[in-house]
Amino acid sequence: MANRKKIIAGNWKLNKTAGETRSTILELRNKLAGLATRAEVVVFPPFVSLETAVDAARETVLKVGAQNVFWEKSGAYTGEVSVTMLETLGLEFVLLGHSERRVLFGETDATVARRLEAVLDGKLTPIVCVGEVLEERESNRTGEVLERQVGGALRNVAPDHIGRIVVAYEPVWAIGTGKTASPAIANDAHTLIRSSIAAMFGRSAADETSILYGGSVKPENTASLMSESEVDGVLVGGASLDAASFAEVVRAAG
Ligand code: PGA
Repeated sequence: MANRKKIIAGNWKLNKTAGETRSTILELRNKLAGLATRAEVVVFPPFVSLETAVDAARETVLKVGAQNVFWEKSGAYTGEVSVTMLETLGLEFVLLGHSERRVLFGETDATVARRLEAVLDGKLTPIVCVGEVLEERESNRTGEVLERQVGGALRNVAPDHIGRIVVAYEPVWAIGTGKTASPAIANDAHTLIRSSIAAMFGRSAADETSILYGGSVKPENTASLMSESEVDGVLVGGASLDAASFAEVVRAAG
């Protein structure tokens, strides 16, 4: 995986109260203590638990990110949260365009692009999620969909900002279904994503972009996914909720 940053991320979605967030992170820090990993390990709790999460993760290898962010800085946007608000909490990462945001909450490539622009104006590391639905895969449109999503989300990115972006390939048919993409399928999709980035920003920028795989990642399938040359990390949903299984994923990722 060249010299790309290796990232093991846990997307907690709509799970865990602040108290549960604290206890899970405390358990995770015990389990990760003494584990030699060169990966960045990040958890993404719900907004209301972020402050607690940052506090519990202090002086550990664990980092904290948010699951989404709005593009405006302030104003009459009921229910939204700004980049500055997340930064001042001490976060380092933010997920953008997760398929649940796209499918359930009307997120589009255009809104992902606006969020990404706002994030790149600040200091957070964005993880931009892309991935095809089953019907698109079955009708051989995966390449076209990934190219459209990557092109759409990254269309306003300045060349000197591409180095800050992480992409996550999450085939929608593999999310929460127990149906993981095979390592070869993941590797092929990552290669397509990297080609789209190369077409926009050049080969060397593309070669330096970390691309994570997500969709039913578990301790048992992490090592084989991570052994693929184009897979630079994993974005874990269900298996990240339990500290022991998430710690096993981190261990298996090497
Ligand atoms: P899953 O979710 O691991 O539960 O499939 C992955 C994700 O949605 O990020």
